[in-house]
This record gives sequence, structure tokens and C-alpha cells, in this order.
Amino acid sequence: MQNMRTKVGCLITGAAGFVGSHLAECLLAMNFQVVGIDNFFSGRRDNMRSFADSRDFYFYEASITERNLMRKLKRWHPELRYCFHLAAVVSVPYSVEHEDETMGINLTATQALVKESRELDFTAFVFAGSAAEYGRDPRLPLKEDYATAATRHTSPYGRSKFLASRDVAQSPNGIALRCFNIYGPRQDPASPYSGVVSRFLAAALAGQSLTILGDGQQTRDFIYVSDVVDAYLHAAGLNRRPASPLNGVYNVGTGEAVSILTLARTTLQLTNGSEAPAFLPERPGDIRHSLADIEQFKAVSGWSPKVSLPLGLRKTLEWFGRHTPPEC
Ligand SMILES: NC(=O)c1ccc[n+]([C@@H]2O[C@H](COP(=O)([O-])OP(=O)(O)OC[C@H]3O[C@@H](n4cnc5c(N)ncnc54)[C@H](O)[C@@H]3O)[C@@H](O)[C@H]2O)c1
Repeated sequence: MQNMRTKVGCLITGAAGFVGSHLAECLLAMNFQVVGIDNFFSGRRDNMRSFADSRDFYFYEASITERNLMRKLKRWHPELRYCFHLAAVVSVPYSVEHEDETMGINLTATQALVKESRELDFTAFVFAGSAAEYGRDPRLPLKEDYATAATRHTSPYGRSKFLASRDVAQSPNGIALRCFNIYGPRQDPASPYSGVVSRFLAAALAGQSLTILGDGQQTRDFIYVSDVVDAYLHAAGLNRRPASPLNGVYNVGTGEAVSILTLARTTLQLTNGSEAPAFLPERPGDIRHSLADIEQFKAVSGWSPKVSLPLGLRKTLEWFGRHTPPEC
């Protein structure tokens, strides 16, 4: 057991976000010191409610674009040894409208942080990559080496994540996890980036019909947030003895394709909804199918996803039942 003096510190950028807040909660429960950074661009203070008062949690409202941010934090918290870098412009439409800003936050700031982490001897720098790094590659399941400099990304979001992941993986302490469609409690159904899962659940609970864009035959690889948190821990080597962080780029998903129609039906079953879904035209630019090949990450880390879609949906539903989601 770690005691107060020897607690190892973990920095989480994007700690007020959907995934970052789950990661912070888990690391605190594992007895780490957690330092969170967020500028509330898309995150919410409320996401940190369950752990904000923990004596091992320190929060700073700051942008990751701040110069020498890590140096300053390391001076204040010499225990910091791990960085989980999740802060980003996450909205694809926003990234299209604000390309320079997106590149500045998602790429340039990430490059500065990973460089600082190396100079400050951080044991591991784990980066939130994305399935968007594959662009429209039709070869499924998507393998890590399919994303290359020649990949045609469909948005500055995808491009920035690809370039950042590549730079992170080149750092000896760097690991990039290309997560597919994450869902779970605290995902904001009102956000333009919000996953279809939270939108479906919020609509079903409000007694509204589910809206399917296109014919519903599109497929996605949905992964529950606790499996993603577990993947972050495996990447950093924090749940293995001896702790040995990985290096490189790895996919994180379930390896199972689920159609939007199946998701809608399962949601209706769980919520006892009877109203037929409404169909609207497909969003231009949306990819048709997305599926992760997760064999590499499983092989190197021993990680595997544990939460089935029905169970993950039930847990998310329970949470939505206890928390009024923001208007969507
Ligand atoms: N949710 C998904 O399905 C998914 C899938 C693949 C990858 N990812 C990646 O995982 C990470 C977390 O995503 P999320 O779903 O939790 O999104 P989120 O919007 O809930 O979290 C991102 C957080 O970063 C913060 N942030 C943004 N710009 C910042 C800045 N300049 N300085 C400090 N903080 C800033 C936001 O306020 C927010 O709290 C992101 O990097 C995202 O690209 C998410």
C-alpha cells in the first residue's frame, strides 16, 4: 500500500470530461494522487463531483496550450510520474470550422506535452487517439498499420489525432490508444460530438422516438467507458506487476460491429419503449462502418473488454435515470 508520502502522481488532462473523469475516479480509488487539468471547453465541473473533494485530487483550470504547463505542475507535484493526455477539441464539426485552433490544441499542444514529459522523466505518457485516424479505410477490422501519412482524413480532428498519435508513439515513454465509440455514464447527449448511445438513451427516457440518420445499417464498435479506463491503466502498466508501460499505437474497441438499428432495438427493449424509430437522411461525411482489430493490444497488455453492450447500456441507463441529462 502506498502511504501519503510515497503516493505516485498521475496527471490527467481533460479531467472534467466524460472519459477523463472516469479515469480520475478509478486512479483515486487505486490510491494514486491525481492532478487534473481542464478549461471546461466541453467538460463540466459536475463530472468531477464524486471525487472533487478527495484529498488526493488537485484540480487546475488551465489550457493545455499554456507554455511549460507540465514543468509548473511537476514543481508543485513532484510525485507526478504518469500523464494521461485526453484534453482535446473533440467535436468533428467544430474541428472542420476551426482547423487552426484544432491543430493547435490537438497536435501542437500534444507535441509540447510529450516533449516535456520526456524531459521531466515521466514514466509514461498515454494519449487519447481515435478511430478517426483511419479516415474512410474500408478494410475491416481496422489494423493499427492501416493509418499512414497517406490516409485521407475526413476532418482536422482525425488528422490532428493521427499526427499526434504518431509523435507520441515515437517518444520512448509514449503510448497512443485509438479508441473507437466510447459510451457510458456522464457522456453528454447535448454535445454535438455526443455518441449515438447517449442520444438514444436520453430520447428513450424522455419518451421521444429515436432518430436514426440513414438506414440504420451503419455499424460501429461501441466500447463501455470502464473498459477504456482499464485499457489506459494497462497501457501505463499500472495494473501489472512489475509496472511496465507500453510504447506504440494500439486500437481499443470490442472487435464487434453493432448496427445502429440493433442499438436502437436494444435501447427500446431496455426502456420498454414502443415508438418506432424515425429515419432522417444520413449526415454527409459520416463513415458507413467502423470496427477495431484489438488483437495487438490484447497480446501486448493482457487487456480485454469485459462489458457487453446490453450490460453497458443498462449501466448507462441506470445513471441517466438518476441524473437528468442536459436538454438535447
Ligand atoms: N468519446 C469517444 O467516443 C472517444 C472516442 C475516441 C477518442 N476519444 C478521445 O478521448 C478523449 C476524451 O474524450 P471525451 O469523450 O471524454 O470528451 P470530453 O469532451 O468529455 O473531454 C475532453 C475534455 O478536454 C477538455 N479540453 C478541451 N480543450 C482543452 C484545452 N485546451 N485545455 C484543457 N482542457 C481542454 C474539455 O473541456 C473536456 O473536459 C478526447 O481526446 C477524445 O478525442 C473519445
